[in-house]
Amino acid sequence: MNETLPHPWLPGSWRLKPAKHLPSYPDGDELARVEHTLRSFPPLVFAGEARQLKERLAQVSMGRAFLLQGGDCAESFAEFHPDNIRDTARVLLQMAVVLTFAGACPVVKVGRLAGQFAKPRSTPTERQNETELCSYLGDIINGIEFDDSARRPQPERMLQAYSQAAATLNLLRALASGGYADLHRVHRWNMDFVAGSPQGERFEHLCTRIEEALDFMQACGITSQTAPALRQTDIYTSHEALLLGYEEAFARVDSTSGDWYDTSAHMLWIGDRTRQPGGAHVEFLSGVANPIGIKAGPSLQPDDLMALLDKLNPDDEAGRITLIARMGAAGIGEHLSRLISTVQREGRTVVWSCDPMHGNTIKSSSGLKTRRFTAIMEEVSRFFAIHRAEGTYAGGIHVEMTGKNVTECVGGAQDITEEGLADRYHTHCDPRLNASQSIELAFELAQLVKQDGSARSSAPCV
Ligand code: PEP
Ligand code: CO
Repeated sequence: MNETLPHPWLPGSWRLKPAKHLPSYPDGDELARVEHTLRSFPPLVFAGEARQLKERLAQVSMGRAFLLQGGDCAESFAEFHPDNIRDTARVLLQMAVVLTFAGACPVVKVGRLAGQFAKPRSTPTERQNETELCSYLGDIINGIEFDDSARRPQPERMLQAYSQAAATLNLLRALASGGYADLHRVHRWNMDFVAGSPQGERFEHLCTRIEEALDFMQACGITSQTAPALRQTDIYTSHEALLLGYEEAFARVDSTSGDWYDTSAHMLWIGDRTRQPGGAHVEFLSGVANPIGIKAGPSLQPDDLMALLDKLNPDDEAGRITLIARMGAAGIGEHLSRLISTVQREGRTVVWSCDPMHGNTIKSSSGLKTRRFTAIMEEVSRFFAIHRAEGTYAGGIHVEMTGKNVTECVGGAQDITEEGLADRYHTHCDPRLNASQSIELAFELAQLVKQDGSARSSAPCV
């Protein structure tokens, strides 16, 4: 064998690389059996859909559309219910319509759902009194209850995660194309508990304007029948590609292009803790052709960013890489510009997206993890301001949100207080924006997107 030839990439190549945040399963034979079973399961998404998302993200990288990515921090088996999926989908649709109409910009919708189960944790174990157990790593790995048997990593959980992801995706597809997403129904997307609030009224007002526009279009002969874009939409799926044994099982060769795709979701991202250029997670994603997100926290150095872009997108394909900056409101000013300058200097193409959640997590006075709506908004507006100053396009937002009326993030027009957090604190991991806070964020964002759009369209042609 010629030792100088590089080894071809295979779905299992990551197994030879150092891997962080992977569970250690007590029973290796059972793990192998479950992974073998998963390999025989149908793909959740088609390669052609992932390619189409990549083309849409390429449009975003050119400043012609905006990326809206949102959903649960961690999906759970306990919260699995059609109403939850529908409610998250409809808040995503509401946010998208606010951005499209008030922001005057096409929106690419990507859910953090139908597979967002595995979580990296700050410590591998959790101690309560004298007992130390494995930390909760997400329902695809172990259970959240603090007892020995629940916390033991169990391979069969991957089978349940697959079945939940398949059912979630099935409902999402139906919601997106079966009439629910028809713009003529826009009024009905407003949730009861939001409807009477200032955000709800703001949304109602926007709906009325959309309906007027639709009536006008109908008078001109443009209806849901003649223009399918009015009656249906695309909601893509994404999750963190953390549990590599599961992801490997869904790596399939696309018969059209001959390329490998990870068919567990349209888009996969690498977490801030597993983005080592020589590590297992980067190795796995380097060989699949899906659009890839990279979380970029304050510790990401320009050299590492370049090593990641070289490994994950050597041909600089537009739409392949979304850089998801999660610096925190206090850190973004210091850390984002140097990444932007590096990408610009090296002439690389990326979508710049802002995750204003993960750098703004704090502990409330009661000990619950929370995020302040003001800090979230501050990071978002700084993100836009920095891009404006650098002459680059602020192309997307990545949020943890739910359609439910939870009390997990403080502030917003509802003015959720630290004391009020315990009322409806349901998250399995990080605090999410509720429906009202998500819509409020969308209206603020729409202003920023619109300003950027006007700046672009009034810029002289060169
Ligand atoms: C997440 O998105 O839930 C997450 C863990 O993010 P990060 O990798 O940016 O910390
Ligand atoms: Co999170």
